Amino acid sequence: MTRETWNSKRGFIATAIGSAVGLGNIWMFPWRVGTEGGAAFLIPYIILLVSIGIVALTVEWTLGRMTKGGPVVAFEKAGLPFGKYFGILGNFTMFLVFAFYSLIIGWMIMYLSNMLFGGLSAVDAGQFLASQAFSPSMAMWQFVGIAITIFIVSKGVKRGIEKANNFMTPVLYILLILLTINSLMLPGVNEGLSFYLLPDMEKLFSPGTWMIALSQMFFSLSCLGTTMVVYGSYLKEKEDIPVSAVVTAFGDTLVAFLAGLIIFPAVFSFGFAPEAGPTLIFAILPEVFQQMPGGLYIGILFFLALLFAGITSSVSMLEVCVEAVMSKTNISRTLAAIGLGLAVFLVSLPSLLGVTLFGMPYFDFIIYISTVLIGPLGALLAALALGKIGIDKAYEHIQRGASVKIPKIWKPWAKYFYPIVVLVIYLYTLVNGG
Ligand code: PHE
Repeated sequence: MTRETWNSKRGFIATAIGSAVGLGNIWMFPWRVGTEGGAAFLIPYIILLVSIGIVALTVEWTLGRMTKGGPVVAFEKAGLPFGKYFGILGNFTMFLVFAFYSLIIGWMIMYLSNMLFGGLSAVDAGQFLASQAFSPSMAMWQFVGIAITIFIVSKGVKRGIEKANNFMTPVLYILLILLTINSLMLPGVNEGLSFYLLPDMEKLFSPGTWMIALSQMFFSLSCLGTTMVVYGSYLKEKEDIPVSAVVTAFGDTLVAFLAGLIIFPAVFSFGFAPEAGPTLIFAILPEVFQQMPGGLYIGILFFLALLFAGITSSVSMLEVCVEAVMSKTNISRTLAAIGLGLAVFLVSLPSLLGVTLFGMPYFDFIIYISTVLIGPLGALLAALALGKIGIDKAYEHIQRGASVKIPKIWKPWAKYFYPIVVLVIYLYTLVNGG
């Protein structure tokens, strides 16, 4: 069977941005900017995006396009020792990321449905977080999110994934722009903006800030040696990798930035504290919406945007696993998507049953394993695999279809500097406890 490819350049970019834009942008980024010194976090983030993030995307797409495979095939073909097994480890990461992601997607669907059918008063955020968020009653909502993901992935690369992203990604931007305009018109907007944007200069020079910015960026760009390798493997030779990387990197960052512009003015305007983490979106925002004129509609638009961002990312997670199964067995795409989706559901269930592992709630445990312990290794392996294939060959390959001449410095940058940086953040985050 011939390998599917993306239908159009626009479709590919919408899909790449769809994967990149997710909870990392709307939930994590504003909170990081808030706690890591406002604009003092943005400055390192942008510097790292230009110097490393764009290279990361080019490395992963080039590896995928050259080997026509996801991590299992790519690492194996590149001749990395134990390549196949490292590839399987990469798949396992995505499997676990999908497991915790799907639970949060379930929360979004539940909020949306409560708002649509019961109005704002049907959302009792305090009670939700205290007793419902991790209870068996969430299983149904989580299942709905997984079922939507399975449906899109089972339709295939062009007719499922690309088509869904072609619709959801532009709509997501429109929703976010509307929400930003609304937030910027709230009374007392300045307080929120200054919390969000005034730089705390001390943080700018703290290595911790730079490390957090780097790991945040890898997760946000979906560069863990998995998704972007698979997405690259569906790229035609004539497509422009470097320009697509620049557009994707900035498209992703724009959403993160807008999310902060939406959240902070609203939170401050109604006298709430900008708490960190999941509570900001799931506990505080619904209360903000209750007080805001037209809050029901704003709330629905916000959770719809969040849902689109989440689904286009979860699709990319499931696709990594489905692609691996399809490339190594005769199992059909539909069957692989259903089987793996159900397996993810089962693996995530202990978080709804109050299970703890190694003294951590199961939910935190799978987040730790997937994003801190093994995720970054995937990015490292992708860079090493490309180096093993030969950086001159890779350079020649990436130049194909490119409308710009890539500076020659890309070669030592991608081969040495980039993997060293990944290794340093990995070790730093491990030692500092993620
Ligand atoms: N980039 C996604 C986000 O920001 C998460 C993700 C990571 C998706 C790795 C796919 C692969 O939420």
